[in-house]
Amino acid sequence: MDACIAAIDQGTTSSRCILFDHDGRAIGSAQLEHEQIFPRAGWVEHDPTALWRNSARALETAAADAGRTVAAVGITNQRETTIVWDRATGEPVTNAIVWQDTRTDRLCLELAGAAGPDRYRQRTGLPLSTYFAGPKLRWILDNVAGARARAEAGELCFGTVDSWLVWQLTGGRTHVTDVTNASRTMLMDLRTLDWDPQLCAEFGVPLAMLPEIRSSSEVYAEVAVGPLAGVPIAGILGDQQAATFGQACLDPGEAKNTYGTGNFMLLNTGTEPVDSEHGLLTTVCYRLGDQAPVYALEGSIAVTGSLVQWLRDNLGIIAGAAEIEPLALSVSDNGGVYFVPAFSGLFAPRWRPDARGVIAGLTRYVNKAHIARAVLEATAFQTREVLDAMRADSGVELTTLKVDGGMVGNETLMQFQADLLDVPVVRPVVAETTALGAAYAAGLAVGYWAGTEDVRTNWAEDKRWLPRMNSAERDRRYAEWNRAVERTYGWLD
Ligand code: G3P
Repeated sequence: MDACIAAIDQGTTSSRCILFDHDGRAIGSAQLEHEQIFPRAGWVEHDPTALWRNSARALETAAADAGRTVAAVGITNQRETTIVWDRATGEPVTNAIVWQDTRTDRLCLELAGAAGPDRYRQRTGLPLSTYFAGPKLRWILDNVAGARARAEAGELCFGTVDSWLVWQLTGGRTHVTDVTNASRTMLMDLRTLDWDPQLCAEFGVPLAMLPEIRSSSEVYAEVAVGPLAGVPIAGILGDQQAATFGQACLDPGEAKNTYGTGNFMLLNTGTEPVDSEHGLLTTVCYRLGDQAPVYALEGSIAVTGSLVQWLRDNLGIIAGAAEIEPLALSVSDNGGVYFVPAFSGLFAPRWRPDARGVIAGLTRYVNKAHIARAVLEATAFQTREVLDAMRADSGVELTTLKVDGGMVGNETLMQFQADLLDVPVVRPVVAETTALGAAYAAGLAVGYWAGTEDVRTNWAEDKRWLPRMNSAERDRRYAEWNRAVERTYGWLD
């Protein structure tokens, strides 16, 4: 039987492994959820050992079930989530600080100083925000007993989740990351694609603890532990960049939007970074071996799918995520309710760390179905804000929006999204584009696929939603949404 490529997708809520064949079709998978740890308001942590254990188990289970030779392993991951571990023992010094965690809000204000949040934007493409790894790493060095001294002595390693998994898969031999993940730390210069010593000094991060920055598609090392020992690890991409690659957005002007825990829209801008003036991030999209890097503009939204989870777990309004669509459809509109889920402040395009969640427009008339509808609509409204910023920054008029991720099975949301954007929304046959992108990166490095033409050829459309809402209605609703957003500001004293 033909060999296949395995992609580990270590995400915010679960660790998965999907196996792909030459046609880019999923031929096997395994998935394990891990605990979300909320030690106090605003803090979000994961147990790094659970992320590794679940990823390893998913890889081994999927490979054993499929019974095919694995030609290479690719890794894609929740980005920015920060792990520090002991170089000698592999023991994490504390839990992973997750990208959604806002404990560094005051630290970010201090780092910004009089220059403001865009102090490092030119060099890193990013505003100072709790979102990125640099401030999280600084927090660990400042707050975990002995961490700074041990880091300075070269005893500790820092990594985003990709680095952590490679370290574990190679039995502690290889400490690397790829350009896409490194571009989310605030410590890498976007143009040299290397750690910036001055930035590291200003963040108080010893260079000795940083991984080597490599491309997104090359053989980094071989798996050294478990039944897949000897298989090359040949692709690493942050999950949103992986989805962009898996959606075959390979030319400047092509974009995708992923509906996961949060939403992330990336627009390929080609081999030069484009500075944003409308609240987007400039980030590395991918780099294949020693080819020129490809950059993207990104609109990151912190809370979309996780709001559905919150409705289930914290309010108990639904028992499972699948219940939200029928509940929302049991009423004809949102009853005047707007739900702005600013649980981690607001990310793109507003970047308001002082924002907190708001449900606006409540009257005695409103019931849980209206809330469910407002929850779904919140995803589409936030995406509209990002798309507007994308148009303004790039001058690119998107004629369709390629979508993927867990929420794209929700037809009501997809239709509302097309209505609100006034742009057709298109879902591909393989909606697992994140894992697929990492598989392509790994498969290209070992010659399993010949070139990026294969990526393009394998992409196929599954379904398209066309805009149906008239412009007056669209504008009215968007104006009401904006009024609700204004109510979220000013909660950080
Ligand atoms: O930047 C955060 C992003 O990478 C998380 O993605 O799919 O784990 O919610 P996801």
